[in-house]
Amino acid sequence: MTMSIDIDSAWQELRERVKHCTKCPLCKTRHNTVFGEGPVNAKCVIIGEGPGEEEDMSGRPFVGRAGQLLTDILEKGGRIPRESVYIMNVVKCRPPGNRNPMLDEIRKCSEHFEAQLALLHPDIIVTMGNIATQSLTGLKTGITSMRGKWLNHRGVRIFPMYHPSYLLRTEGDKSESGPKYLTWKDIQELKAELDRLHQS
Ligand code: URA
Ligand code: URA
Repeated sequence: MTMSIDIDSAWQELRERVKHCTKCPLCKTRHNTVFGEGPVNAKCVIIGEGPGEEEDMSGRPFVGRAGQLLTDILEKGGRIPRESVYIMNVVKCRPPGNRNPMLDEIRKCSEHFEAQLALLHPDIIVTMGNIATQSLTGLKTGITSMRGKWLNHRGVRIFPMYHPSYLLRTEGDKSESGPKYLTWKDIQELKAELDRLHQS
């Protein structure tokens, strides 16, 4: 499917706006903004927290260690090609030292990710980890009780999952209530829902 000229130009305009954004202090330390990548007509958008070092250097989302794990979760765990989903972050610039983005930075960047979502209008938004899940839903509930549940954000379904960085930090836990096992279950659930969407 091709985008209409209007949406196409709105998307390019938004890209430019993000590229030159100076709304928050993260613009002073970034090497590159990380807008996001994937097909603009994707049914599913995956949202992380913010760029890490590799992402900051390359300008692409989820290309470092956590990104490789995300690709494996999608492709090996869910048989969902990475190229079939749109991948982006809540904040477009790297927080120094990979600290969590601050509330003010998220607020200022929300103008960008809300504009992206309005143009992408996905059927499903997967939020990974606390920051993305709480930023999108406005809820303060932790990811451990939100993951694997279908929520709603202004009429779009949200499916929170653990962040791949958290999975890397808890690699040793292979128990049936552990994050690795639960993420395997979640990606099956996501795949099943995407299959249903493609059939309808
Ligand atoms: N972690 C994130 O949340 N986003 C990235 O793009 C990379 C690592
Ligand atoms: N904390 C997070 O921010 N994300 C997770 O996935 C788990 C704990």
